[in-house]
Amino acid sequence: MSEQNKEEKFTVTPWEVKGKIDYDKLIQQFGTQEIDDALLRRISAIAGELHPLLRRKVFFSQRDLKWILDRYEANEKFVLYTGRGPSGHTHLGHLMPWIFTKWIQDKFGAPLYFQMTDDEKFMFKDTLSLPEAQKFSYENALDVIALGFDPKKTKVIIDTKHIGKLYPIAIQVAKRVTFSTAKAVFGFDNSTNIGSIFFTSMQAAPAILPSVEAGRNVPCLIPCAIDQDPHFRVARDVVPLLGYYKPALIHCKMLPSLAGGDKMSASIPQTTIFTTDAPKAAKKKVMGAFTGGATTVEEQRRNGANPDVCSVFSYYYYLFEYDDKKLGEIEQKCRSGSMLCGECKMMLAEKLEKFLAAHQERREAAKDRINDFIPE
Ligand code: TYM
Repeated sequence: MSEQNKEEKFTVTPWEVKGKIDYDKLIQQFGTQEIDDALLRRISAIAGELHPLLRRKVFFSQRDLKWILDRYEANEKFVLYTGRGPSGHTHLGHLMPWIFTKWIQDKFGAPLYFQMTDDEKFMFKDTLSLPEAQKFSYENALDVIALGFDPKKTKVIIDTKHIGKLYPIAIQVAKRVTFSTAKAVFGFDNSTNIGSIFFTSMQAAPAILPSVEAGRNVPCLIPCAIDQDPHFRVARDVVPLLGYYKPALIHCKMLPSLAGGDKMSASIPQTTIFTTDAPKAAKKKVMGAFTGGATTVEEQRRNGANPDVCSVFSYYYYLFEYDDKKLGEIEQKCRSGSMLCGECKMMLAEKLEKFLAAHQERREAAKDRINDFIPE
C-alpha cells in the first residue's frame, strides 16, 4: 500500500465530522495558525494561569489571537461570541468550548453573545420541525446558564426570536457572499435549499452586532471547535468590507465519541453523553466505551494498554481530570498494565455521575433565571 493510501481520510465541516482528524493538517487546510508558546505565555501573564484546555493544547488553533491580546492590552476590550445549533439536547462535546468561554469571560471580563441558530437546524435537518428547534434553544440555554455565565454580561440570542436585530446585519453580509463562494466553502449544490445557502450570513451577524449596538468598532473573539471555522472564514472576508474588525477565533479539537475516533455526536446516542442523561444511564455508556485495552486480562497485565487511542482516557484528558499529576498517574497505570480498563472506566463513570447530578441541579435552577439571559 502506498504511503498516501495508508493515510486515513477525514472530513471536518460545520455539518459533518468523520474519520481520525489530523489537526496539524487541518491547520494547513483551513489556513489557521497554531497557538504557540509565546501566545500561551501572554495569556497566562494576563489571566494569571492557563486553563488546562490551553495547557493541554485542546485549544490548539487561532486566527488573530495576538491582535485580540494587543487590543486588550491597549485597553480596547473585546466581546466573546459563541453558539449552538439547537437540534437536540446538549452533549459533553458542546460543553467543552462553553466551559472555556466562561473562563475567558471571568479572566478578561468579557461580555458574551451566545447565538442559538434554530433557523440553521430547521433548514439543515429534514426531520426537525421549527417548534422543536425553538424548544431546544431554550433547553440548550439552560446548559449555558448552568455553567455559571455572568447574567449581566451574557446575552443569549435566538435567531427566530431576535431576527429584527440580526437581519439588517445578515443581509449586508449576504449581499457580499456569492453562491459560488458558498458552494466552494460548504459543498452546496443546486439541490441545496436556499435557506441553507443564506444561513452563513446569520452566523456572521453576531460578530458585528456588538459593534452596531455600541456605535463603534468592538473587537470580537469567537471560541468554538474547529468544525465551525468555515463560517468565519467567509465572515472574515466580508466584515472588513462593511467597515468592521474581522472577528478573531480560538479553536478546540473535537471531543471524541465513546466509540473512539470521530467526534461525540448527537446522532449516535449510545456513545454520546447528554447533559440530560440520567447519571446511571451515563455510567452504563461509559462502561461500554471503546478503550485501548488488550484482548485478554493476562496480556494487558503483561503489556499494558494504550491510552493514546482510548476514548475513556480522552475524557479524563479533555474534561474530567484537570490535575496533571493525577492524569499522569492514570496514564502510567494504564501503560504499565497495573490498572485494567474496568477499573479505569468505573472511576470515570463515578466522576461523570457526580458532574451530571450537579449540572442537572444547576440546570433546573436556571429555569427561574432564563429571562435574565434572553433579552425581550
Ligand atoms: P453546534 O451546535 O454543532 O455545536 C456547538 C458548539 O460545540 C462545538 N462542538 C464540539 N466541540 C468539541 N467536541 C465536539 N464533539 C463538538 N461538537 C460540537 C461546536 O464547534 C460549537 O462551538 N452553527 C453552530 C452554532 C453557532 C456557533 C456560533 C458556534 C452559531 N454561532 C458561533 C460557535 C461559534 C452549531 O451548529 O454548533
